[in-house]
Amino acid sequence: MTISAPRDRVEELTVGGGARLEELVDRESLAQLAASFADLSGVGVRVFDAEGKLLADAALAVELMSYLMTLRQAKSAVESTVSSVKNLDPGPVGQASMDGVSGGRYRVVALEHDGRRVGRLVFGPYFPPSLRDIPSTLIELEPNLDLDRARGLLTLAPRVTDDAMDRMAKHARATLDVVMFSGLRALLTGSMHLAAVRESYRELQSKQEKLQVAYDRLKELDRLKSNFLATVSHELRTPLTSIIGYSEMLLEGIAGEIVGEQREFVTTIREKGEQLLGLIKGLLDLSKLESGTMSLRKATMEVAPLVRDVAQTMAPHAKKKGISLHVALEPALPALWADAERLRQVLLNLVENAIKFTPASGSVTISARAAAMAAAGGGGEDGGLVLLGAQRAAVQFRVADTGIGIPESERQRVFDAFYQVDSSSTREQGGTGLGLSIVKRLVEGHEGTVHVEANAPQGTVFVVTIPLKRATLRP
Ligand SMILES: Nc1ncnc2c1ncn2[C@@H]1O[C@H](COP(=O)(O)OP(=O)(O)OP(=O)(O)O)[C@@H](O)[C@H]1O
Ligand SMILES: [Mg+2]
Repeated sequence: MTISAPRDRVEELTVGGGARLEELVDRESLAQLAASFADLSGVGVRVFDAEGKLLADAALAVELMSYLMTLRQAKSAVESTVSSVKNLDPGPVGQASMDGVSGGRYRVVALEHDGRRVGRLVFGPYFPPSLRDIPSTLIELEPNLDLDRARGLLTLAPRVTDDAMDRMAKHARATLDVVMFSGLRALLTGSMHLAAVRESYRELQSKQEKLQVAYDRLKELDRLKSNFLATVSHELRTPLTSIIGYSEMLLEGIAGEIVGEQREFVTTIREKGEQLLGLIKGLLDLSKLESGTMSLRKATMEVAPLVRDVAQTMAPHAKKKGISLHVALEPALPALWADAERLRQVLLNLVENAIKFTPASGSVTISARAAAMAAAGGGGEDGGLVLLGAQRAAVQFRVADTGIGIPESERQRVFDAFYQVDSSSTREQGGTGLGLSIVKRLVEGHEGTVHVEANAPQGTVFVVTIPLKRATLRP
């Protein structure tokens, strides 16, 4: 699947190029840096961004300035100097100086990143050593100036040569360059990571949408298939019942005596008709089970009579094939809360298979015993999930034969609809492969499990476990 890069992703990736000072260096680090510059030079330092916003302030108290701020004229002169300094363009060389009315000097240093001005450092006020006295402009400007006091304070003011300030500015710029570079790296890594996460999220979202569409479509198709199966099998049943009915009447001689080959042919018609009816009933059951429209009529039922009834029903069939059919029931089996007719169908299917896939002189045993299963329902005894979680009392049915067996690799698949182990045309046994898929669904409708085991020394065992309604633990 190809996904075109969305436009904002490109923006995300180039964000480092237009980054603001504040994005490159966090406020905290800027404040620390400014404080360390101020410490080194003995001169106050302020950091502004490109728009003139104050980002860090490491001003040092200069008593002369504090004194001037108490005088009217001097105060407004100092303030106007400060605001001019704030807007002072450092010019193409990236540095500029400005002297205030007090003789104090300010140095503005441009901060550059990636060929752009991202902010300014302002050092000051500092007083060049060459300044010996209070400037005459200040004396003229401020009538209330106490000259002795001002002179005294001037001796305490920070004295820095322009050379020293040059070196300081260079050092500050270089340091901030390094800091901005690592800031940029962090910023880029962060935004690239963010872009990658967003991209994967988008990709996942679009895949999820496609999956949802496919899933909805499949569900709809499945529903249509079940509907189709249900309708077709239902419609086939009616004419088929007539065919069987009429062939029975013919065999009974209602339409006149039939003889020899005629009887043989009509018998075949009836047998094949019944076979077809069985298949159609199976399809109908399966479609009902798949669409969830088959309702189970559950009631309290005894296990032993059910098993005996199944054995009785299948006995003639077994006898005809020369197979001995046995019943093994544990005494005092608990009653089940189940649909007796459907459980009968489950056992009949299993016993029918057992007889079908066991050669003459073999044996088939139907047994039932009390057991326990995982309360969660899933897993069953072969799933290994019973190790954890609560146990649920159940009844276990086993249909064991001494027949051809089912290879281990096929034991899951035999429950798929229409699946038969040997589907070659030379296959001896008939059938359509629907029996076990119906068995599985009916068992699951009872919250039970079904699986296949090998029988020793040969043959197959189908194990069906159906939980009792009330979750009581076996003593
Ligand atoms: N007791 C068994 N011994 C050996 N193989 C079996 C046994 N029971 C089932 N099988 C295998 O599993 C396949 C599926 O069984 P299933 O009952 O679903 O279909 P079928 O018996 O072939 O047809 P149907 O039950 O629809 O008439 C069988 O075709 C057979 O290959
Ligand atoms: Mg079968």
